[in-house]
Amino acid sequence: MSTSIFFDQSNVELVDICQRWQLTFSEGSAFELKYHNQRLALHKRDEPKVSGIIVDFVGGAVAHRRKFGGGKGQAIAKAVGLKNGNIPSVIDATAGLGRDAFVLASLGCNVTLIERQSVVAALLEDGLKRAYQDPEIGKWMQQRMRLHHGASQNSLNELGIEADVVYLDPMYPHREKSAQVKKEMRLFQTLVGSDDDADELLPPALNIAQKRVVVKRPDYAEYLNGQTPSASIKTKKNRFDLYSVL
Ligand SMILES: C[S@@+](CC[C@H](N)C(=O)[O-])C[C@H]1O[C@@H](n2cnc3c(N)ncnc32)[C@H](O)[C@@H]1O
Repeated sequence: MSTSIFFDQSNVELVDICQRWQLTFSEGSAFELKYHNQRLALHKRDEPKVSGIIVDFVGGAVAHRRKFGGGKGQAIAKAVGLKNGNIPSVIDATAGLGRDAFVLASLGCNVTLIERQSVVAALLEDGLKRAYQDPEIGKWMQQRMRLHHGASQNSLNELGIEADVVYLDPMYPHREKSAQVKKEMRLFQTLVGSDDDADELLPPALNIAQKRVVVKRPDYAEYLNGQTPSASIKTKKNRFDLYSVL
């Protein structure tokens, strides 16, 4: 499926990226992709003051979390069953900007990321490319994080890979007033939409996972596919619902 977006057609590197991801030029698109300083960024054209979305595993918030974020004590690590002597392999079937996947990879997990939205996948690929070349994290990033573009309803079966854990974090409509949701996040939500077909992901995820499926939800959200989990881990704003398949 091709996606239409606005971009500078005289920027050779950008045109190349857009062609590879089948992103066609649209004069009227609300979004713009920019390529500057070797970074791909997504902007909303009517909000020029809001900084663009880029995937940066080397610096910024995720790098800070890697160094000071609590390691294996984090709820997400507990949710996938990560502890000394057990480092599960993970398929992140709703990869988004790869933040959760990166936390797990930085703790040792091999993570396959699946993302269906072409613009998001292009941003992810760009972030991975830079991370793979980084002297500090490049080596293990190349070993532990790989991207697959596709819809997980199909890809989970078609990829033919096994993993201990399938991790799902589909979009969920936010309750907070829009001003409270970070502007950057609002931009991402506007692009991606609300993942209304998310319930369809649980059956194939349960089929593929060797140990458990983990579903991240806002604390007020109903269970995915109406299915009661084996256990839940609660954080300040979210819940990790665990579906054991053992
Ligand atoms: C809330 S975001 C995930 C955020 C991610 N956990 C992170 O830490 O950055 C949800 C993402 O899942 C993707 N997605 C939703 N349903 C999908 C599906 N069936 N197959 C592949 N990707 C999907 C959306 O396009 C969106 O980018």
